[in-house]
Amino acid sequence: MSGFFHRLLSLLFLWFYIVCLCHYSSLVSGTTRDNFDARLSLVEYLTNNSEIVREILPAPDINTPVNVKFRIKLRQIATVDEKNQAIRLTVWLRFDWNNPFLTWDPAEYGGIESVHANHDLFWVPDVALFNEASLEEEIQILYKRLATKLVIQKDGNCTWNAPATLLSQCKINVSRFPFDEQECHVSIGSWTYTGYKINMTYFEQNADLSNFIENGEWEVKSALLHNRMKHYGSEKIPYPDVTLTLKVQRRSLYYGLNIVIPCALIAVLALFSFVLPSDHGERMSLVITVLLALSVYMLIVSSSLPETSDAVPTLGIYCLGIIITIALCLCATCITLKCRDMKSPMPHWLEVVVIQYMARFVLVKIEEENMRPSLSTDRISVSLNNEKFTKIPEANAESGQEPNTEDMSLLVMNEKQSKCFEDALLEEVRLLTEELRSKQEEEAFAKKWKKAAKVLDRFFLLSFLLVYACLIAYLLSSM
Ligand SMILES: *[C@@H]1O[C@H](CO)[C@@H](O)[C@H](O)[C@H]1NC(C)=O
Ligand SMILES: *[C@@H]1O[C@H](CO)[C@@H](O)[C@H](O)[C@H]1NC(C)=O
Ligand SMILES: *[C@@H]1O[C@H](CO)[C@@H](O)[C@H](O)[C@H]1NC(C)=O
Ligand SMILES: *[C@@H]1O[C@H](CO)[C@@H](O)[C@H](O)[C@H]1NC(C)=O
Repeated sequence: MSGFFHRLLSLLFLWFYIVCLCHYSSLVSGTTRDNFDARLSLVEYLTNNSEIVREILPAPDINTPVNVKFRIKLRQIATVDEKNQAIRLTVWLRFDWNNPFLTWDPAEYGGIESVHANHDLFWVPDVALFNEASLEEEIQILYKRLATKLVIQKDGNCTWNAPATLLSQCKINVSRFPFDEQECHVSIGSWTYTGYKINMTYFEQNADLSNFIENGEWEVKSALLHNRMKHYGSEKIPYPDVTLTLKVQRRSLYYGLNIVIPCALIAVLALFSFVLPSDHGERMSLVITVLLALSVYMLIVSSSLPETSDAVPTLGIYCLGIIITIALCLCATCITLKCRDMKSPMPHWLEVVVIQYMARFVLVKIEEENMRPSLSTDRISVSLNNEKFTKIPEANAESGQEPNTEDMSLLVMNEKQSKCFEDALLEEVRLLTEELRSKQEEEAFAKKWKKAAKVLDRFFLLSFLLVYACLIAYLLSSM
């Protein structure tokens, strides 16, 4: 009994299951079919005679322009080319307009509200980048490059979204490089339709930067959209466009770390030549080595400066200033080394300028007693006379000018034979004294020149420090 019931139940279940399944599958294939048919007829309806229709401006009436709304999403600043005055941007563009010929009633087409279709089949605005900077072989008008599908709503709203790279002309002023800020304009508008046919407007004034990938060198300060109306021809026909004004600022950290600081350090090394003891012949070679090091460094610098002769960039002036200063350092080192080796009397004007005024100015102490070399030689000759001839009165010895009178008094006192000897001796002593005096004079002159060299060293050290400070201040002032 229970076995019969059981079999009946399972049969019932099977029947129920089969009925259900059949119904369901017929339901599914029916809706798929309907959906496909609806879409097919909608596309057929929309693209009926599309070859002709797509050439017709979708204006509601002849006096009303088509309103094309434009939106730009900035993705990346790919390159900024100072030499060719161009900027390459990666963007997402979006155009919206209403096409009154592409409307339908969703109830007639299975509730379909929107269609995605190839943009070739329908009217699209012939947008172009007005300040395109591409070369001839790669130039293609912007709307031909946008290959994405068009989204059409039931009420004829068309949305065209596409990624693009825009290579746009941009006047780049490098006079403040690497602390410069550039302003680039990217103008997009219809190439052939005048303002009476197409009105280009924008959604929001600020370009969308939400997915922006930061550039290593450029920082976006602002990206604003605004309408521009350009009038061409003698009839002053207006051509509207939407212009993106992009303000970008160069990040100068790279140049600071790689050029400004190393150059300054190398340059300061050259100043040590004024601190080194002068007897070292190494001073010249130090400055020459520094100059060589800097010229090798300039190879790196020149490769990173913008290759343009429009303006001399700030960094270029700084580096040039440092090279010139080091070359002058070399000359100054030559001058002070020459001074150290001079033994001739110093010209009076030089003494006045260097030892009296400049020394005070650059705070070098000059010992006063070394200033009069003739005094010491006089004392030596006097003391020599005193040692030999003790009987000579002090007054005579002091004058020292009349050795003949002394000789005469000696002649009277002593024998005749000794006179010859005395004369010879005196002559010898005089010669010796003379030689000693000239030697000491020379030494004194040399000492004076050394003093002057010391003063000059200090003077050059301070003045080149001042020049470096000015260069750095110049660089900082243009930041
Ligand atoms: C396409 O247009 C022709 C007339 O130009 C019309 O006869 C035909 O029915 C249209 N087809 C559809 C799918 O609307
Ligand atoms: C079509 O665009 C108009 C004007 O922009 C807007 O008011 C309307 O809601 C849009 N229609 C659809 C279906 O989004
Ligand atoms: C470049 O900028 C500097 C100052 O920023 C300005 O003095 C100079 O006239 C500009 N040069 C050009 C060609 O615009
Ligand atoms: C273009 O559209 C803007 C705003 O939608 C409007 O202010 C302007 O008058 C329009 N221009 C033309 C020529 O219709």
